[in-house]
Amino acid sequence: MSDPSIVHLNGEFLPADQARIPVLDRGFIFGDGIYEVVPVYGRRPFRWNEHHARLVRSLAKLRIDNPMDAAGWRQLVQTLIDRHPWDDQFVYLQVTRGVAKRDHAFPKGITPTVFGMTSPLPAIAHEHLRDGVSAVTLPDERWLNCDIKSTSLLGNVLARQAAVDAGATECVMFRDGLLTEGSSSNIWVVRHGRVLAAPKDRRILEGIRYGLMQELCEACGIAFEARPVHRTEVEQADELMLSSATKEVLPITRLDGRPVGSGAPGPVFRALHAAYQQAKQAST
Ligand code: PDD
Repeated sequence: MSDPSIVHLNGEFLPADQARIPVLDRGFIFGDGIYEVVPVYGRRPFRWNEHHARLVRSLAKLRIDNPMDAAGWRQLVQTLIDRHPWDDQFVYLQVTRGVAKRDHAFPKGITPTVFGMTSPLPAIAHEHLRDGVSAVTLPDERWLNCDIKSTSLLGNVLARQAAVDAGATECVMFRDGLLTEGSSSNIWVVRHGRVLAAPKDRRILEGIRYGLMQELCEACGIAFEARPVHRTEVEQADELMLSSATKEVLPITRLDGRPVGSGAPGPVFRALHAAYQQAKQAST
């Protein structure tokens, strides 16, 4: 049951080094595709229904035919999990429009390419929970369809590299003076005990942790407000946090080299982190 390198490609499970896609795949040529990253705890995908729903939404927004029904997707994910030895994993799924002669417009009658792989889920670094991570602010220079979980990620890649070049873990991006998100995470601002979130619109990806954070705030009795968040509110935050499938929820304790609030992980982070761990436990 434990071959660490089995991937799924177009209905077949095979060793990663034997999986091949044609050079004219539009995912390769144009980044014309969508993806999902699903965390797995205790061999069960966490928040699968929500991830599946977003995958279906992303496909629909790009007018790519959904190649499988819900049961098919669930089966694919479980087979990937079962073929690998790790209890905690993260499954990566990708669908591209398929293979066709290079032409920007959608070709007719082609079959989407379906790819899936899984990896061991790295444990969250103890120092990140204890001390927090650093971030830098950046202008959001991406396109205006950030709600689609598209594999066209060059804007995100450049933003993350700018953060790395500045010695930081993540970036906090702004468009027209308003908070958007990180290069591969949603960003949360705590002011006066309330959690502020950028609204769910085309400027951000609605993380699966977006809904989760909202639920966890409710469970913890913390006010949650989704509305345009001004740069000054971020600069004056008592706490800042990021969330993603692989990072769960992490405190950002330094922004552009300056301490955020007290400069240490705060009480809202601690409450939400504990609630997150409970939600994981409950799911396994
Ligand atoms: N990224 N915003 C962006 C731009 C992201 O790429 C991600 C996740 C999120 C958070 O979404 P979720 O809570 O569903 O992970 C927000 C994944 C992890 C990635 O690209 O690897």
